[in-house]
Amino acid sequence: MVETMSWDGNCLELLDQQKLPREVVTVRCTDYRSVADAIKTMKVRGAPAIGAAAAFGMVLGAKRFSGPKEEFTTHMRQVARALKETRPTAVNLFWAVERMERVLTEVKEQSLPNIIDRLEKEAVEIFEEDRRLNKSIGRYGKEVVPQNATILTHCNAGSLATAGYGTALGVIRAAHEEGKNISVFADETRPLLQGARLTAWELMEDGIPVTLITDNMAGYVMKLGKIDLVIVGADRIAANGDVANKIGTYSLAVLAKEHNIPFYVAAPYSTIDLSLATGEEIVIEEREHNEVRTIGDTVIAPPGVPVFNPAFDVTPNQLITAIITDRGIVKPPYDKGLKTMMEGGE
Ligand code: MRU
Repeated sequence: MVETMSWDGNCLELLDQQKLPREVVTVRCTDYRSVADAIKTMKVRGAPAIGAAAAFGMVLGAKRFSGPKEEFTTHMRQVARALKETRPTAVNLFWAVERMERVLTEVKEQSLPNIIDRLEKEAVEIFEEDRRLNKSIGRYGKEVVPQNATILTHCNAGSLATAGYGTALGVIRAAHEEGKNISVFADETRPLLQGARLTAWELMEDGIPVTLITDNMAGYVMKLGKIDLVIVGADRIAANGDVANKIGTYSLAVLAKEHNIPFYVAAPYSTIDLSLATGEEIVIEEREHNEVRTIGDTVIAPPGVPVFNPAFDVTPNQLITAIITDRGIVKPPYDKGLKTMMEGGE
C-alpha cells in the first residue's frame, strides 16, 4: 500500500500527487504555509488526506511560533484560517482544523511546550484514526461486493486520498484481500486525471486488476453489462444523504440508476456534515480555467476560451443505494440513518 504522508516530528513529508505517476517524489513541509500551499495546489488531495495534512499544518504553525505566549492564540487563529481557506468543499479539512482548535482551547492555560505536545498528539491521532476508519469501512463494505465483481470507481478515493488504505478503494482492497475475484474500471476523471494518474497507479502497485476508461465511456461500459456496482468516495455528505464528490460522480449515479446498477458511497464519519440539511448548501469549489484548457502541459483548447470548472458535484440521496461508513452501512432514509450513526461513536 502506498504511503501518502509521513510525519517525523518536525516535517510533514507528502508524496507529490501532482507529479504522479510520472515521478514518484515527495515534498517536505516544515511550516504551515507550505502545508496550505500543498493542499491548495493539490500535492496532497482527497478529503481525509487534506484533513490529516491540515492537522499537521496546525502543529507546524505552533512549533515555528517564536513570539511571546500572549500572541500565541492570535497566531494560531491565523494558522487555522490560512489552512481553512485552501479548499472549500471537503468537510474533513474543517473537521480536522476545528478538532485541533478545540484542543488549543482545552490546554490554553498550559505552557507552550505542553500545548505543542498536545497538538502533536492530536494530529497523530487524527492520522492514525483515519487509517482505522478506512479499515473499518473496508470490513463493512466488502459484504456488498459479490464473490466475482467488476467495480466502477471515479477519481481517487484510495490510500493516496486518505491517511492510508482508502475509502472506496478500501472496500475494493478488503474484498480483494478476502480472496474475492475483483476487477476495477477506473474513470480517468478530467480535468486533473486523478483516476488515470492515481487510482490506476495505486491499484497496479497493489496488484488489483484495473482497466482505465475515459469519463465519457462509463455509460457504454455499463450498457455492455461490464459493471456490477459503482463505489465512490465523498468530500461532504449532508444530513439528508446528498453527497458532494469529484465532478462527474452525479453523471455516474444517473447512469447507474438507468442501468439498475447499485451505487455506493464510502466515507468515514469525518466526511458527514449534519449541519447542512441538503447538498444544496455545500460550497462547490471552482478551480482555475487552464485546468480545462490543458492536459498536463499540453494546450488542448483555443487560448482564452471561456471555461466552467467546478471541481465537485452533488449526487442527490435518492440515487445512492447505501453509504458505507466506518460505523456500518447506512441505507435510506438517510436523514434518520446518518443521525443515528453519528450519535454512535467509533
Ligand atoms: O479534488 P480532489 O482530488 O481532492 O477530490 C477528491 C475526491 O473527490 C475524492 O473522491 C474524495 O475526496 C474522497 S477521498 C477518500
